[in-house]
Amino acid sequence: MRLLIRGGRAVDPARGVDDTLDILIDEGRIVQLGKHLETDGAQALDASGLAVAPGLVDMHVHLREPGFEAKETVSTGCAAAARGGVTTLVAMPNTRPVTDCPEIVTLVRDRAAPTGVNVLPAGAVTTGQGGRQLTDFAALKAAGVPALTDDGVPIQNLALLRQAMLWAKELGLPLLDHCEDRDMVQNFAVNEGRISAQLGLPGRPAIAEELQIMRDVMLAEETGAHVHICHISTGKGVDIVRQAKARGIHITCETCPQYFSLTEDEVLHQGTMARVNPPLRTPADMEAIRAGLVDGTIDAIVTDHAPHTAEEKSKPLPDAPSGMVGLETSLALALTGLYHGGLLPLSRVLALMSSSPAALLGLDKGTLDLGRDADLVLFDPNQEWTVDKNQFASKGRNTPFHGRTMRGKVKYTISRGNIIYMEG
Ligand code: DOR
Ligand code: ZN
Repeated sequence: MRLLIRGGRAVDPARGVDDTLDILIDEGRIVQLGKHLETDGAQALDASGLAVAPGLVDMHVHLREPGFEAKETVSTGCAAAARGGVTTLVAMPNTRPVTDCPEIVTLVRDRAAPTGVNVLPAGAVTTGQGGRQLTDFAALKAAGVPALTDDGVPIQNLALLRQAMLWAKELGLPLLDHCEDRDMVQNFAVNEGRISAQLGLPGRPAIAEELQIMRDVMLAEETGAHVHICHISTGKGVDIVRQAKARGIHITCETCPQYFSLTEDEVLHQGTMARVNPPLRTPADMEAIRAGLVDGTIDAIVTDHAPHTAEEKSKPLPDAPSGMVGLETSLALALTGLYHGGLLPLSRVLALMSSSPAALLGLDKGTLDLGRDADLVLFDPNQEWTVDKNQFASKGRNTPFHGRTMRGKVKYTISRGNIIYMEG
């Protein structure tokens, strides 16, 4: 099928394109870009008033299948991705069984195939995410994993982590690390500080994250591995990464909309909906995360989409699981906070959500270049809308953004030339 996307504002951050252009798609690929292209029998899609950008690449998503289908399935998670403009995602391995062998990688990919979303399961670093024995990285790589991670369960054993980095480097795979010292954070619910004191709860201190980032920097320097810090949330953490990059160490990092949009105070208003690991931090941390996005220290915006059931989230704060859904609000939160907030131009916001994560994972995605897969998101950058969790395609309703008005609405999501989401 041939599709002509007409009259939109084509923004391709990877190539510095930002212009009113028509885009012709044939057999799932971008075959022509230019002014006033002829329809020539192709189906036309009017994109006037819309931005046309590379489909978003979200390198941190919990799809929950296999094992936790009450929270989410590959199918519902991918529907949420499509609704949020995400065409490629990395699925985290904390499933049951854990994605620690080629069979589970294949299972997740097979379930994702009919959805049209390009799902890349990450492989676990240790068997069962148990932190004791390394998985077979070569076999996982052969099965197609783009990266290795034990996300959700920080790796404590330094001998094991160092060996993991050495092998990951040999195979050319990045290691995505959830940094929080487990003894310091245990199963605590909130940031350690003013709010934890007010609630009379033990907290997760910022230093628990910063110490592991520092440790990872030193190990990355020594091993030469590419280490990517997951969901960075503290100002000092950003400083450490900034300095490491200046020293030429192969460190990258990501953050999530919640860390540049919310502070720990949110827990007082929203209870378990605002419980997430690492926790929401102070206003100073939030400002430092924004500064890290502006100066390029932070390489990617990801969701850490972490669906949980209503029943789980209705438990008291100390007992409820951590995490919030994000796929259906991330673009709007980034546009509202960063673009409309005057911190970043549109192309930079889009780079953080597509070309930059694609590049750091070595994926042939995140650009509107000729010959590439026609993965696109069409959105109205200015439209105001109010988040209604009951409209989510995700099974997860655990969002602190329900009822919030934001700017920027996804209209169409196209994957390999197929429209996989259309508003209304
Ligand atoms: O809040 C979180 N939830 N952080 C993680 O690292 C894991 C995730 C989950 O799996 O629920
Ligand atoms: Zn994590």
